[in-house]
Amino acid sequence: MAFDDLRSFLSALEERGDLVRVRDPLSPVLEIPELLRQVMLRRGPAVLIENVAGYQGWRVAGNLFGSMDRIKLALGVDRFEEIGERMVSMFWKPPPTSLGEKLSSLREALDIGKFTPKKVRKADFTDNVVEGDKVDLNSLPAFKTWPGDGGRYITFGQVYVRDPATGVTNIGVYRVMIRSSREAVIHWQLHKRGRLAYLEASRRREPLPVAIVIGAEPAAMIAGVMPVPYPMDKLLFAGFLAGRGVSVYKLPSEILVPSSAEVVVEGYVEPGREADEGPFGDHWGYYDKPIHKFPVMTVERIWMRRDPIFVGTIVGKPVLEDAYLGKAVERVFLPILRTVLPEIVDINLPEYGVFQGLMIVSIRKSYPGHAKKVMMALWGLGQTSLTKIIIVVDEDVNVHDINQVIWAVSANVDPQRDVVVIPGTHTDHLDPATPIPGYGSKLGIDATRKFPEEYGMKEWPEEVKPDPEVTSKVARILDRLGLGGGNGSVGSRRAKGEGEG
Ligand SMILES: Cc1cc2nc3c(=O)[nH]c(=O)nc-3n(C[C@H](O)[C@H](O)[C@H](O)COP(=O)(O)O)c2cc1C
Repeated sequence: MAFDDLRSFLSALEERGDLVRVRDPLSPVLEIPELLRQVMLRRGPAVLIENVAGYQGWRVAGNLFGSMDRIKLALGVDRFEEIGERMVSMFWKPPPTSLGEKLSSLREALDIGKFTPKKVRKADFTDNVVEGDKVDLNSLPAFKTWPGDGGRYITFGQVYVRDPATGVTNIGVYRVMIRSSREAVIHWQLHKRGRLAYLEASRRREPLPVAIVIGAEPAAMIAGVMPVPYPMDKLLFAGFLAGRGVSVYKLPSEILVPSSAEVVVEGYVEPGREADEGPFGDHWGYYDKPIHKFPVMTVERIWMRRDPIFVGTIVGKPVLEDAYLGKAVERVFLPILRTVLPEIVDINLPEYGVFQGLMIVSIRKSYPGHAKKVMMALWGLGQTSLTKIIIVVDEDVNVHDINQVIWAVSANVDPQRDVVVIPGTHTDHLDPATPIPGYGSKLGIDATRKFPEEYGMKEWPEEVKPDPEVTSKVARILDRLGLGGGNGSVGSRRAKGEGEG
């Protein structure tokens, strides 16, 4: 069951003993962020800070999604793959032939309606609205995380825009720097959908209405970090995540936002109006440099529920909350990725690889050059294209067991044949290793066993395997001696993702 708002999610967490209340007075400048970071590093519970120094009447929630179990609870699933499979099963299957099949596929088509947003006329956040000159972004308990950050940031706001070309709603989690009482700078990176909408508005020389939602029903919050293919509507996608349509309220700017929102910051960006953003200590663990210009949002209104709850997160060296969200993305999208690359068995974006840093992918290899074909495809697809290093292994290697991957890389790779470096490519805008943001290179490692065509027309060496009868006999003896259990050898375990446990 998905939750209708943030508060019911917090209550459920508390009931399970997965929420801690902090009553000590703490400032959103450095103190709350450091507390949240320490809790995240300890793989601790969600946190509700009830005494926000300097911000009477506010509470701050954090580390809401800092464990796989909490994200599963938020989305009401046992396995994240269920969500991707739910979507794929609607669209990718053989065409119906019998009358019964046709009727059932018609029923399924109508079922899509249950995931679409549901408009309502009343939302609790309309209880309090501050407009025009009265707006003061500094009244929000936004965080300064690191001592060298250039200002205070909304770190877990969902930025809503309507794409001027398609009319679809986009939801993206992008950091937002408070610049003055009525201005904020939105960190829309080069390759993200939010920036696409901004570029389209700029082409049309029109201002782009923007709404930043802070705290809402969990599925809508999580939808903001999902790399949903353009132009699928992200509110519709949030409905797929929740298993039912999101209840939405139409703002004066016509943007649809969840009626469950705690806070909504509404305004617009004007084409070409950009300002310095940063420095900001980001998820790579560095302050990103050089300072770049990003679009400036002018705020017209701030709406909020009574006793509002602000939500923030922390980024920095792993493992923090974003690591778990990244894992959820990996699992939700695996079935969807397989629709374009059916040879993919499993993927792992290791938490310490910071998502865009490293992807390990296992494939059902069926022709020479297959591993490199998969690399090229991934480097050409949406946000997987931002991945710096891709390692491809055979299907019997468990990508989640780093030692199995190290074995495959060590045993199967001849560097001059199997390592690909592509210079002059696009990269993650924040990658600290490239001097020009967004422009660098790629590394691919083909750690699969080689076909004769890839191996000087020779057969790949036969792998050692013990005699099965002898193994069984020895296993029985070892069991009797209390030394039973798995053999622990590489390739002995089936690939198993986080969501399958
Ligand atoms: C905590 C957190 C902060 C993020 N900050 C940014 C950011 O500042 N800029 C950005 O472009 N993406 C950021 N992302 C990644 C985007 O949320 C992610 O790429 C998402 O798919 C963007 O949505 P879009 O594909 O609709 O543009 C952040 C993700 C998380 C979890």
